[in-house]
This record gives sequence, C-alpha cells and structure tokens, in this order.
Amino acid sequence: MPKSLISIHDFTKEEILHILDVAKDFEANKAQPILRDKIVATLFFEPSTRTRLSFETAANRLGARVIGFSDVVNTSVSKGETLKDTIKMVSNYVDIIVIRHPLEGSSRYASEVASVPVINAGDGANQHPSQTLLDLYTIRQTQGRLDNIDINMVGDLKYGRTVHSLLQALSHFSPKFTFTAPDELKMPYEYKVFLDKKGIPYKETADLSEGIADTDILYMTRVQQERFTDIMEYEKVKNCYSLTAGMLENARKNMKILHPLPRINEIAQDVDDTPHAYYFKQAENGVYVRMAIIAYLLGYK
Ligand code: CP
Repeated sequence: MPKSLISIHDFTKEEILHILDVAKDFEANKAQPILRDKIVATLFFEPSTRTRLSFETAANRLGARVIGFSDVVNTSVSKGETLKDTIKMVSNYVDIIVIRHPLEGSSRYASEVASVPVINAGDGANQHPSQTLLDLYTIRQTQGRLDNIDINMVGDLKYGRTVHSLLQALSHFSPKFTFTAPDELKMPYEYKVFLDKKGIPYKETADLSEGIADTDILYMTRVQQERFTDIMEYEKVKNCYSLTAGMLENARKNMKILHPLPRINEIAQDVDDTPHAYYFKQAENGVYVRMAIIAYLLGYK
C-alpha cells in the first residue's frame, strides 16, 4: 500500500519537520514544476474553499494537472456508486487522491482500497492533517519555534477536527494547552487521556477573557453546525464566543490569532486590523505546505 496522509500520526516528528522545511523552500520559490507528468484528483464530498483551492493551487504550482469534483450531485455517487468503487476507479486515473468526506474513517478506508497515495482533507469530526501541518508551519513562522508554545484552543473543541489533529501533532513539542469551550463543546475525553498519558499539561475554562494574556497562539474555531444532529443544540452555543479587538489589550506582543476558517461570528472584523491577526496568512501557507505534502507522498525528497 503506498504511503498516505490520513491521520497526523501517519507522519513521524522527523517527517513533520521535513515537510515544514520543504514548505519553507516552496514559499521562497513558488514555481517548481517537478511534477509535470503527474495528475492529482481532488474528490470533495463536502464543501470547502481553502482546502480544495489550496491543494489545486499547490498541484498547479508543482506543474501537475488536476481532475476532480467539488459536489457529488454531478457524479455517479448520486446514482448510488459506493465509495470503494469511486476510489478504485479514480486511482486508475491519477497519481494521488485528495479526499474530503463527511464520514469519520472514510479517508482511511479510501487509502486501503486505492492503489495511489491518499490525503485526508477532512473526515467528519475526526482529522484534518494537512491543516495541522500548515498550522504548525504558521506557528513556527510566527513564534520562531515549535517547542514550549502556550496555545489556547477556543470554541468547538468537540466537533472541530482541526484542533484534534493539532493537539496530537503538538504533543511532539512540549506545549501547554488551554481549552476554552462551553460545556457542550469541550475537548473530548479521549484527547485529554492522550495528553495525560504523555504528561502534557492542559487547563479547561469556559471564559475566553481568562486565557488571552498568557498565550502565544490563540486558536479560534467555528462552531461546526453541520455536525449537530439537533438544531436547537446548535442555536444554544452558536455565538458562544466573539473575539473583539478590545479584548486583546493585555495580549503578549508575539501572540498571534489563528483560525482554520471559515469564520462566522467568533472573530469580529475589527480584529483583522490588529497585529495579532494572522489567519489569512495562515490560509496562504496552506499552498506551500500542501506542495510539500504532495511532493513527499509522490517520492520527491
Ligand atoms: N480550513 C478549511 O478546512 O477550510 P475549508 O473548509 O474552506 O476547506
């Protein structure tokens, strides 16, 4: 089975650092058409702006060609074709597959039936490892290091797949976590057990103002409406946090605000003009990191 990126655990610490170093080279030299003979498939069974477009930009910058879909309505999935058959078919057409799917475990399954590498671009509330690598890249870019970062994860820690992957990746680098969430959206037990086993400290609070002054990275997240089975439960928590510029007065100078985006109400527009806002640059970094991931999985070291 070819090497895929389904969970952040699929990459060792050394591989993670290698991807970040190669991404830095790609940021400095954006056009490197080393994959002119390759075809990348982007199969998006769920909506996306950044992940799909940055993967496609990454493929284009590497000189590869891209096929795929961003909506299953016009594919044979709408006639009932299975995920297995879809993946087996597409892996006969292309050199690597990028897939986003609402079901947890779907990307792992795709990697087991595909004859080419598969990149998980988000599977339900489970994992989003390419986002994690670009988050790590951005943390290192803004802080000059990955070790001993104080990071405050805010918002939907229950359904937010980006925080789950990022927590696991940062466990290589001795972080200190604050988890800011209402009771309904707290970090799931399994991730706290994971940190306990590694001896990594974390504290939990529901009060956003409590954790702003003592953090290097304020990692905001959207409440994931699409994961709620009861709309009334979503209505109760949808506006649980709204970060405004006025709340940043006591923030450390080096503190940067990250967000995987899209944002809804959790970051007010006035934050964009503060020196702490970094989420648009974070999204740009996705291109360089995804160039590095595609190149690595296709054997370019
Ligand atoms: N960060 C992220 O996954 O954004 P999209 O849903 O727009 O791809």
